[in-house]
Amino acid sequence: MAQIGYSKKVMEHFMNPRNVGVIENPDGYGKVGNPVCGDLMEIFIKVKDAKIDDIKFRTFGCGSAIAVSSMVTEMAKGKTLEEAMKITRKDVADELEGLPPQKMHCSNLGADALHDAIKDYWVKSGKIKADEVKEVEGHEGVSCPTE
Ligand code: FES
Repeated sequence: MAQIGYSKKVMEHFMNPRNVGVIENPDGYGKVGNPVCGDLMEIFIKVKDAKIDDIKFRTFGCGSAIAVSSMVTEMAKGKTLEEAMKITRKDVADELEGLPPQKMHCSNLGADALHDAIKDYWVKSGKIKADEVKEVEGHEGVSCPTE
């Protein structure tokens, strides 16, 4: 496979993605889609003692989106929900040692889906109300902006 502009870390996570799969009856669930390319990412979390005890993802998308999903789940696992909420799109891209400029938008899905899963948990557990979701710090809006 051609590796035009991809770091070794991106290729490694693409070839051997971590935490792939689905958690039945998750404590939190996040789903984000990109209306431009059609890519879709889902993140499932299990919470224990206010920490992310288990996390899995399912991504219908490009190789970068898969590498991003794998990396963001590794970064979030074991963290408190507040810490995981602070993981930004840029943090994920940095951990992957960068993405080619035309693929930077692919790093959006990971942090956004993670934040959505955490907010879903907070709504279900009564910490925030459904109509407060958009105001929670860390929300970065729609992924993959149109050109
Ligand atoms: Fe859409 Fe990569 S091309 S997330």
